[in-house]
Amino acid sequence: MRSVAGRVVLVTGASSGIGRETAARFARAGATVVGCGRDERRLAAAAAEIGMSVHRCDVTDAQDREDLVDAMLLEHGRIDVLVNNAGIGWAGLVEDMAVDDVQHLYDTNVVAVVDLTRRVLPGMLARGDGDVVVVSSGAAFVSLPPLTVYSSTKYAVDGFVEGLRREVHGRGVRIHSVNPGPVRTEWLARSMGTQPDEADGSRRLSPGVPASWVAAAIERSASRAVAYRVRPPRRGARPAARRAAAAGSRRRRGRRLVPPPRGEGQAARPGQGPGLTRLPTRSGEQ
Ligand SMILES: NC(=O)c1ccc[n+]([C@@H]2O[C@H](COP(=O)([O-])OP(=O)(O)OC[C@H]3O[C@@H](n4cnc5c(N)ncnc54)[C@H](OP(=O)(O)O)[C@@H]3O)[C@@H](O)[C@H]2O)c1
Repeated sequence: MRSVAGRVVLVTGASSGIGRETAARFARAGATVVGCGRDERRLAAAAAEIGMSVHRCDVTDAQDREDLVDAMLLEHGRIDVLVNNAGIGWAGLVEDMAVDDVQHLYDTNVVAVVDLTRRVLPGMLARGDGDVVVVSSGAAFVSLPPLTVYSSTKYAVDGFVEGLRREVHGRGVRIHSVNPGPVRTEWLARSMGTQPDEADGSRRLSPGVPASWVAAAIERSASRAVAYRVRPPRRGARPAARRAAAAGSRRRRGRRLVPPPRGEGQAARPGQGPGLTRLPTRSGEQ
């Protein structure tokens, strides 16, 4: 494990929910944090609370993405950790969905993730050091209505993570994904077409684990010497599984993905593909 202290971290979607908790956690650990989002008022509130700098950026806008990365490189000279967190949902049946909504979901959850990663990667590879964490979802494992199209975007980013992890293997850059189940944020309210505000209090939050649990998993990923996929513990998991997960936090959590020894190209399970070996894991972790 390495500390994130002193590293330059970009967190997208830092104005609320998981991104805001993650920015706060990294800042407390001594990282230099830049958070972005569209809502300048909430970004300013988060900046005052957390002690990070903020940058207005709509991640669906290519020019905004370019400006964000350029501004960070100008100010800090590098980006050590990219947390691709900004994301939206859409709850409803496919037959009721407008093509603009499909486009917006993919622009936010997939295109922005790939493009921001593409923009920070050359610097990381040149320095031989960097971490990219993608906040995916448990919806990338099982696609369930009414989140069919949202799930498909998370399947897409998981595919991106898996391929890129192989591309950069051995070059000092680690690509992680964090796949939470339901989290207590505004995500569901927004997915149902409302625009909640902090003034709405706890009514804006859906049932789920605290966002701080996911933020902890994100920090753990970025502190590892190897690429990880982590599934944060779920509320309601069986007590034994939760005890095992707690024990895991003292030893090793998550799934470590490493290349197999030469000549051993067996995939750990269907879909994982050749070139990756699944090391033993424990309940509550993926
Ligand atoms: N909550 C869950 O149950 C859950 C479960 C699994 C995975 N996730 C994933 O976790 C991530 C964070 O979601 P959350 O639960 O923390 O929800 P949230 O509270 O609604 O936060 C979403 C964040 O994304 C930002 N964002 C959305 N569209 C953006 C855009 N076009 N440009 C820039 N920022 C944008 C929002 O900021 P602005 O409004 O200021 O733009 C906000 O800060 C998402 O990728 C989501 O898919 C959530």
